Amino acid sequence: MSNQKIAKSGPVPGPVLGIETSCDETGVAVFDPSRGLVAHTLYSQIKMHADYGGVVPELASRDHVRKLLPLIRETLSKAGMTTRDLRGVAYTAGPGLVGALLVGASCARALAWALDVPAIGVHHMEGHLLAPLLEPDPPQPPFVALLVSGGHSMLIEVSAIGRYRLLGDTLDDAAGEAFDKTAKLMGLPYPGGPALAKLAESGTPGKFRFSRPMTDRPGLDFSFSGLKTQVLLAYQQHADEANAKADIARGFEDAIVETLLIKCRRALEQVGATRLVIAGGVGANRKLRAKLAEAAQRDGFRVYFPRLEFCTDNGAMIALAGALRLQAGLHDDAAIKVAPRWNLESLAPLEAA
Ligand code: KG4
Ligand code: ZN
Repeated sequence: MSNQKIAKSGPVPGPVLGIETSCDETGVAVFDPSRGLVAHTLYSQIKMHADYGGVVPELASRDHVRKLLPLIRETLSKAGMTTRDLRGVAYTAGPGLVGALLVGASCARALAWALDVPAIGVHHMEGHLLAPLLEPDPPQPPFVALLVSGGHSMLIEVSAIGRYRLLGDTLDDAAGEAFDKTAKLMGLPYPGGPALAKLAESGTPGKFRFSRPMTDRPGLDFSFSGLKTQVLLAYQQHADEANAKADIARGFEDAIVETLLIKCRRALEQVGATRLVIAGGVGANRKLRAKLAEAAQRDGFRVYFPRLEFCTDNGAMIALAGALRLQAGLHDDAAIKVAPRWNLESLAPLEAA
Protein backbone atom coordinates (compact mmCIF):
# COMPACT_ATOMS: atom_id res chain seq x y z
CA MET A 1 0.00 0.00 0.00
CA SER A 2 2.71 2.48 -0.90
CA ASN A 3 0.67 3.92 -3.76
CA GLN A 4 -0.42 7.10 -1.97
CA LYS A 5 0.27 10.07 -4.20
CA ILE A 6 0.38 13.80 -3.66
CA ALA A 7 -2.87 15.09 -5.13
CA LYS A 8 -2.50 17.82 -7.73
CA SER A 9 -5.84 19.26 -6.62
CA GLY A 10 -4.53 20.08 -3.11
CA PRO A 11 -6.43 19.71 0.15
CA VAL A 12 -9.99 18.38 0.06
CA PRO A 13 -12.24 21.29 1.04
CA GLY A 14 -15.31 19.55 2.45
CA PRO A 15 -17.15 16.50 3.77
CA VAL A 16 -15.50 13.08 3.55
CA LEU A 17 -17.42 9.81 3.60
CA GLY A 18 -15.76 7.07 5.68
CA ILE A 19 -16.41 3.34 5.15
CA GLU A 20 -15.27 0.57 7.51
CA THR A 21 -15.70 -3.10 6.52
CA SER A 22 -12.52 -4.81 7.74
CA CYS A 23 -14.16 -7.42 9.96
CA ASP A 24 -17.66 -7.93 11.37
CA GLU A 25 -18.90 -4.34 11.60
CA THR A 26 -20.18 -2.21 8.72
CA GLY A 27 -19.50 1.40 9.70
CA VAL A 28 -20.22 4.56 7.73
CA ALA A 29 -19.68 8.22 8.68
CA VAL A 30 -19.35 11.72 7.32
CA PHE A 31 -16.54 13.89 8.71
CA ASP A 32 -16.25 17.51 7.67
CA PRO A 33 -12.89 19.14 8.58
CA SER A 34 -14.63 22.44 9.31
CA ARG A 35 -17.55 20.95 11.31
CA GLY A 36 -16.18 17.72 12.78
CA LEU A 37 -18.18 14.50 12.81
CA VAL A 38 -21.49 15.14 11.04
CA ALA A 39 -23.17 11.70 11.12
CA HIS A 40 -22.31 8.06 11.65
CA THR A 41 -24.06 4.68 11.53
CA LEU A 42 -22.98 1.17 12.45
CA TYR A 43 -24.32 -2.28 11.76
CA SER A 44 -22.81 -5.11 13.79
CA GLN A 45 -22.85 -8.68 12.46
CA ILE A 46 -22.24 -10.12 15.94
CA LYS A 47 -25.59 -11.97 16.12
CA MET A 48 -24.93 -13.70 12.79
CA HIS A 49 -21.46 -14.93 13.79
CA ALA A 50 -22.45 -15.86 17.37
CA ASP A 51 -23.90 -19.21 16.19
CA TYR A 52 -20.42 -20.16 14.96
CA GLY A 53 -18.51 -18.90 18.01
CA GLY A 54 -16.43 -16.49 15.90
CA VAL A 55 -16.31 -14.48 12.67
CA VAL A 56 -16.94 -16.52 9.48
CA PRO A 57 -15.10 -14.48 6.79
CA GLU A 58 -17.32 -15.39 3.82
CA LEU A 59 -20.51 -14.60 5.76
CA ALA A 60 -18.95 -11.30 6.83
CA SER A 61 -18.22 -10.25 3.22
CA ARG A 62 -21.73 -11.14 2.05
CA ASP A 63 -23.34 -9.21 4.87
CA HIS A 64 -21.22 -6.11 4.14
CA VAL A 65 -22.56 -6.33 0.55
CA ARG A 66 -26.12 -6.33 1.88
CA LYS A 67 -25.71 -3.58 4.45
CA LEU A 68 -23.25 -1.07 3.01
CA LEU A 69 -25.39 0.84 0.48
CA PRO A 70 -28.41 1.16 2.82
CA LEU A 71 -26.06 2.43 5.56
CA ILE A 72 -24.49 5.00 3.22
CA ARG A 73 -27.98 6.27 2.32
CA GLU A 74 -28.96 6.40 6.00
CA THR A 75 -25.77 8.25 7.00
CA LEU A 76 -26.13 10.85 4.25
CA SER A 77 -29.76 11.35 5.18
CA LYS A 78 -28.80 11.86 8.87
CA ALA A 79 -26.19 14.39 7.69
CA GLY A 80 -28.78 16.18 5.53
CA MET A 81 -26.59 15.58 2.48
CA THR A 82 -26.52 13.80 -0.84
CA THR A 83 -23.54 12.14 -2.50
CA ARG A 84 -23.06 15.41 -4.45
CA ASP A 85 -22.01 17.16 -1.22
CA LEU A 86 -19.08 14.77 -0.69
CA ARG A 87 -15.58 16.01 -1.50
CA GLY A 88 -13.73 12.78 -0.74
CA VAL A 89 -14.17 9.12 0.17
CA ALA A 90 -12.10 7.17 2.73
CA TYR A 91 -12.25 3.41 3.25
CA THR A 92 -10.43 0.83 5.35
CA ALA A 93 -7.87 -0.76 3.00
CA GLY A 94 -6.31 -3.05 5.64
CA PRO A 95 -5.37 -4.84 7.76
CA GLY A 96 -8.39 -7.15 7.94
CA LEU A 97 -10.30 -9.91 6.15
CA VAL A 98 -9.56 -9.66 2.45
CA GLY A 99 -13.13 -10.28 1.20
CA ALA A 100 -14.64 -7.91 3.72
CA LEU A 101 -12.08 -5.19 2.87
CA LEU A 102 -12.80 -5.57 -0.84
CA VAL A 103 -16.50 -4.81 -0.35
CA GLY A 104 -15.75 -1.42 1.23
CA ALA A 105 -12.86 -0.64 -1.14
CA SER A 106 -14.87 -1.42 -4.32
CA CYS A 107 -17.84 0.58 -3.18
CA ALA A 108 -15.70 3.55 -2.08
CA ARG A 109 -13.63 3.60 -5.29
CA ALA A 110 -16.73 3.33 -7.50
CA LEU A 111 -18.43 6.15 -5.63
CA ALA A 112 -15.36 8.39 -5.80
CA TRP A 113 -14.98 7.65 -9.52
CA ALA A 114 -18.64 8.49 -10.21
CA LEU A 115 -18.44 11.71 -8.16
CA ASP A 116 -15.00 12.61 -9.51
CA VAL A 117 -13.57 13.16 -6.01
CA PRO A 118 -10.36 11.71 -4.52
CA ALA A 119 -10.45 8.51 -2.47
CA ILE A 120 -7.99 7.17 0.06
CA GLY A 121 -7.37 3.77 1.65
CA VAL A 122 -7.01 4.10 5.43
CA HIS A 123 -4.99 1.84 7.74
CA HIS A 124 -7.52 0.39 10.20
CA MET A 125 -5.14 0.77 13.16
CA GLU A 126 -4.40 4.40 12.29
CA GLY A 127 -8.17 4.86 12.40
CA HIS A 128 -8.26 3.39 15.93
CA LEU A 129 -5.23 5.42 16.98
CA LEU A 130 -6.77 8.71 15.84
CA ALA A 131 -10.27 8.00 17.24
CA PRO A 132 -9.58 10.11 20.40
CA LEU A 133 -9.25 13.13 18.05
CA LEU A 134 -13.04 12.90 17.61
CA GLU A 135 -13.46 13.97 21.25
CA PRO A 136 -13.34 17.47 22.75
CA ASP A 137 -9.83 18.40 23.99
CA PRO A 138 -8.04 15.95 21.68
CA PRO A 139 -4.43 14.79 22.30
CA GLN A 140 -1.64 16.51 20.35
CA PRO A 141 1.43 14.53 19.28
CA PRO A 142 3.91 13.58 20.61
CA PHE A 143 2.17 10.81 22.54
CA VAL A 144 2.31 7.08 23.20
CA ALA A 145 -0.61 4.98 21.94
CA LEU A 146 -1.72 1.62 23.27
CA LEU A 147 -3.66 -0.15 20.51
CA VAL A 148 -5.52 -3.12 21.91
CA SER A 149 -8.02 -4.86 19.66
CA GLY A 150 -9.02 -8.36 18.57
CA GLY A 151 -6.02 -8.60 16.25
CA HIS A 152 -3.41 -6.27 17.79
CA SER A 153 -1.68 -5.32 21.04
CA MET A 154 0.80 -2.62 20.20
CA LEU A 155 2.54 0.27 21.89
CA ILE A 156 3.32 3.01 19.40
CA GLU A 157 5.33 6.21 19.67
CA VAL A 158 3.42 8.90 17.75
CA SER A 159 5.74 11.82 17.02
CA ALA A 160 3.33 13.29 14.43
CA ILE A 161 0.15 12.14 12.73
CA GLY A 162 1.31 9.42 10.35
CA ARG A 163 4.76 9.08 11.96
CA TYR A 164 4.55 5.89 13.98
CA ARG A 165 7.26 3.84 15.68
CA LEU A 166 6.44 0.43 17.06
CA LEU A 167 7.69 0.17 20.66
CA GLY A 168 6.14 -3.16 21.57
CA ASP A 169 3.96 -5.85 20.00
CA THR A 170 2.37 -9.12 20.98
CA LEU A 171 4.40 -12.26 20.49
CA ASP A 172 1.25 -14.41 20.29
CA ASP A 173 -2.39 -13.59 21.16
CA ALA A 174 -3.62 -9.99 21.05
CA ALA A 175 -5.30 -8.66 24.21
CA GLY A 176 -8.80 -8.90 22.68
CA GLU A 177 -8.04 -12.35 21.33
CA ALA A 178 -6.97 -13.44 24.83
CA PHE A 179 -10.28 -12.16 26.20
CA ASP A 180 -12.22 -13.94 23.42
CA LYS A 181 -10.40 -17.29 23.68
CA THR A 182 -10.51 -17.34 27.48
CA ALA A 183 -14.22 -16.50 27.45
CA LYS A 184 -14.84 -19.31 24.97
CA LEU A 185 -13.13 -21.93 27.11
CA MET A 186 -15.22 -20.74 30.06
CA GLY A 187 -18.36 -21.31 27.99
CA LEU A 188 -19.22 -17.62 27.55
CA PRO A 189 -20.94 -16.40 24.38
CA TYR A 190 -19.14 -14.69 21.47
CA PRO A 191 -17.79 -12.01 21.50
CA GLY A 192 -16.06 -13.03 24.68
CA GLY A 193 -14.40 -9.76 25.72
CA PRO A 194 -17.50 -7.86 26.86
CA ALA A 195 -19.08 -11.05 28.29
CA LEU A 196 -16.00 -11.88 30.36
CA ALA A 197 -15.68 -8.27 31.56
CA LYS A 198 -19.33 -8.34 32.67
CA LEU A 199 -18.85 -11.60 34.58
CA ALA A 200 -15.67 -10.23 36.23
CA GLU A 201 -17.75 -7.44 37.82
CA SER A 202 -19.27 -9.96 40.25
CA GLY A 203 -15.94 -11.70 40.95
CA THR A 204 -13.79 -11.21 44.05
CA PRO A 205 -10.37 -9.69 43.38
CA GLY A 206 -7.42 -11.78 44.50
CA LYS A 207 -9.27 -15.13 44.76
CA PHE A 208 -7.38 -16.22 41.65
CA ARG A 209 -4.06 -14.65 40.78
CA PHE A 210 -2.66 -15.20 37.31
CA SER A 211 0.73 -14.08 36.04
CA ARG A 212 1.46 -10.65 34.55
CA PRO A 213 3.27 -11.99 31.46
CA MET A 214 6.65 -10.48 30.53
CA THR A 215 6.53 -7.76 33.17
CA ASP A 216 9.44 -9.33 35.08
CA ARG A 217 11.95 -8.46 32.32
CA PRO A 218 12.74 -5.31 30.38
CA GLY A 219 10.98 -4.57 27.11
CA LEU A 220 7.57 -3.57 25.82
CA ASP A 221 6.36 -6.73 24.07
CA PHE A 222 3.32 -8.67 25.23
CA SER A 223 2.49 -12.37 25.42
CA PHE A 224 -1.02 -13.34 26.48
CA SER A 225 -1.41 -16.90 25.21
CA GLY A 226 -0.13 -18.56 28.41
CA LEU A 227 -2.84 -16.85 30.46
CA LYS A 228 -5.62 -18.84 28.88
CA THR A 229 -3.90 -22.11 29.90
CA GLN A 230 -3.68 -20.84 33.48
CA VAL A 231 -7.37 -19.96 33.36
CA LEU A 232 -8.29 -23.34 31.88
CA LEU A 233 -6.49 -25.17 34.70
CA ALA A 234 -8.13 -23.01 37.37
CA TYR A 235 -11.51 -23.48 35.72
CA GLN A 236 -11.15 -27.29 35.56
CA GLN A 237 -9.99 -27.53 39.17
CA HIS A 238 -12.55 -25.15 40.72
CA ALA A 239 -15.56 -25.38 38.36
CA ASP A 240 -18.00 -26.56 41.05
CA GLU A 241 -17.06 -23.97 43.70
CA ALA A 242 -19.55 -21.16 44.29
CA ASN A 243 -18.79 -18.06 42.20
CA ALA A 244 -15.54 -19.60 40.86
CA LYS A 245 -16.34 -18.60 37.29
CA ALA A 246 -16.75 -14.92 38.18
CA ASP A 247 -13.70 -15.00 40.48
CA ILE A 248 -11.57 -16.52 37.70
CA ALA A 249 -12.88 -13.92 35.22
CA ARG A 250 -11.91 -11.20 37.70
CA GLY A 251 -8.43 -12.69 38.15
CA PHE A 252 -7.96 -12.86 34.38
CA GLU A 253 -9.17 -9.30 33.75
CA ASP A 254 -6.96 -7.95 36.56
CA ALA A 255 -3.94 -9.76 35.06
CA ILE A 256 -4.49 -8.25 31.60
CA VAL A 257 -5.26 -4.76 32.92
CA GLU A 258 -2.24 -4.66 35.23
CA THR A 259 0.07 -5.98 32.50
CA LEU A 260 -1.14 -3.29 30.08
CA LEU A 261 -0.75 -0.63 32.76
CA ILE A 262 2.83 -1.66 33.60
CA LYS A 263 3.82 -1.62 29.91
CA CYS A 264 2.14 1.75 29.27
CA ARG A 265 4.04 3.32 32.18
CA ARG A 266 7.26 1.80 30.90
CA ALA A 267 6.64 3.11 27.35
CA LEU A 268 5.92 6.64 28.62
CA GLU A 269 9.14 6.58 30.60
CA GLN A 270 11.18 5.16 27.73
CA VAL A 271 10.22 7.90 25.25
CA GLY A 272 9.78 10.68 27.82
CA ALA A 273 6.13 11.27 26.88
CA THR A 274 3.42 12.58 29.18
CA ARG A 275 0.38 11.80 27.02
CA LEU A 276 -1.09 8.33 26.54
CA VAL A 277 -3.80 7.38 24.04
CA ILE A 278 -5.78 4.17 24.42
CA ALA A 279 -7.65 2.80 21.42
CA GLY A 280 -9.15 -0.37 19.97
CA GLY A 281 -11.91 -2.69 21.23
CA VAL A 282 -10.25 -3.56 24.55
CA GLY A 283 -10.08 0.20 25.23
CA ALA A 284 -13.81 -0.13 25.96
CA ASN A 285 -12.96 -2.21 29.04
CA ARG A 286 -14.15 -0.21 32.05
CA LYS A 287 -11.61 -1.67 34.45
CA LEU A 288 -8.76 -0.71 32.12
CA ARG A 289 -10.13 2.81 31.72
CA ALA A 290 -10.55 3.26 35.48
CA LYS A 291 -7.09 1.90 36.35
CA LEU A 292 -5.35 4.03 33.72
CA ALA A 293 -7.22 7.17 34.77
CA GLU A 294 -6.19 6.48 38.40
CA ALA A 295 -2.54 5.90 37.44
CA ALA A 296 -2.51 9.03 35.27
CA GLN A 297 -3.65 11.16 38.18
CA ARG A 298 -1.16 9.63 40.55
CA ASP A 299 1.84 9.64 38.21
CA GLY A 300 1.22 12.94 36.41
CA PHE A 301 0.52 11.84 32.85
CA ARG A 302 -2.63 12.41 30.78
CA VAL A 303 -4.67 9.60 29.31
CA TYR A 304 -7.05 9.97 26.37
CA PHE A 305 -9.76 7.50 25.35
CA PRO A 306 -12.29 7.55 22.54
CA ARG A 307 -15.92 7.36 23.70
CA LEU A 308 -16.95 3.70 24.19
CA GLU A 309 -18.67 3.31 20.81
CA PHE A 310 -15.55 4.55 18.99
CA CYS A 311 -13.23 2.07 20.75
CA THR A 312 -14.64 -0.84 18.77
CA ASP A 313 -14.77 -0.73 14.96
CA ASN A 314 -16.68 2.20 13.45
CA GLY A 315 -16.85 4.40 10.37
CA ALA A 316 -16.18 7.68 12.22
CA MET A 317 -12.50 6.91 12.86
CA ILE A 318 -12.01 6.00 9.18
CA ALA A 319 -13.74 9.18 7.97
CA LEU A 320 -11.54 11.25 10.32
CA ALA A 321 -8.24 9.52 9.44
CA GLY A 322 -9.10 9.71 5.71
CA ALA A 323 -10.11 13.37 5.93
CA LEU A 324 -6.77 14.26 7.60
CA ARG A 325 -4.84 12.47 4.85
CA LEU A 326 -6.94 13.93 2.04
CA GLN A 327 -6.55 17.37 3.59
CA ALA A 328 -2.80 16.88 3.57
CA GLY A 329 -3.06 16.31 -0.17
CA LEU A 330 -2.69 12.51 -0.15
CA HIS A 331 -4.91 10.19 -2.15
CA ASP A 332 -4.74 6.78 -3.88
CA ASP A 333 -4.80 6.00 -7.58
CA ALA A 334 -7.96 4.46 -9.06
CA ALA A 335 -6.98 0.80 -8.59
CA ILE A 336 -8.98 -1.19 -6.03
CA LYS A 337 -6.28 -2.42 -3.66
CA VAL A 338 -6.51 -3.83 -0.17
CA ALA A 339 -3.82 -5.06 2.23
CA PRO A 340 -4.87 -7.84 4.65
CA ARG A 341 -1.48 -7.29 6.32
CA TRP A 342 -0.06 -3.79 6.42
CA ASN A 343 2.75 -2.34 8.53
CA LEU A 344 1.63 0.80 10.38
CA GLU A 345 5.20 2.18 10.35
CA SER A 346 5.16 2.28 6.53
CA LEU A 347 2.53 5.05 6.37
CA ALA A 348 3.38 8.48 4.99
CA PRO A 349 3.67 11.12 7.74
CA LEU A 350 1.26 14.00 7.18
CA GLU A 351 3.79 16.70 7.98
CA ALA A 352 5.87 15.54 4.97
CA ALA A 353 2.92 15.51 2.56
O1 KG4 B 1 -11.22 -2.95 17.64
P1 KG4 B 1 -12.19 -4.07 17.57
O2 KG4 B 1 -13.66 -3.74 17.52
O3 KG4 B 1 -11.91 -5.00 16.35
C1 KG4 B 1 -10.64 -5.28 15.90
O4 KG4 B 1 -10.05 -4.44 15.18
O5 KG4 B 1 -10.16 -6.37 16.31
O6 KG4 B 1 -11.88 -4.98 18.84
C2 KG4 B 1 -12.62 -6.12 19.14
C3 KG4 B 1 -12.01 -6.79 20.36
C4 KG4 B 1 -12.62 -8.16 20.63
O7 KG4 B 1 -11.57 -9.06 20.90
C5 KG4 B 1 -13.48 -7.91 21.86
O8 KG4 B 1 -13.66 -9.05 22.66
C6 KG4 B 1 -12.69 -6.83 22.58
O9 KG4 B 1 -12.23 -5.99 21.53
N1 KG4 B 1 -13.53 -6.06 23.52
C7 KG4 B 1 -13.34 -6.07 24.86
C8 KG4 B 1 -14.37 -5.24 25.40
N2 KG4 B 1 -15.13 -4.77 24.37
C9 KG4 B 1 -14.60 -5.28 23.22
N3 KG4 B 1 -12.42 -6.68 25.63
C10 KG4 B 1 -12.50 -6.48 26.95
N4 KG4 B 1 -13.45 -5.73 27.55
C11 KG4 B 1 -14.39 -5.10 26.83
N5 KG4 B 1 -15.32 -4.34 27.44
ZN1 ZN C 1 -10.56 -2.66 14.93
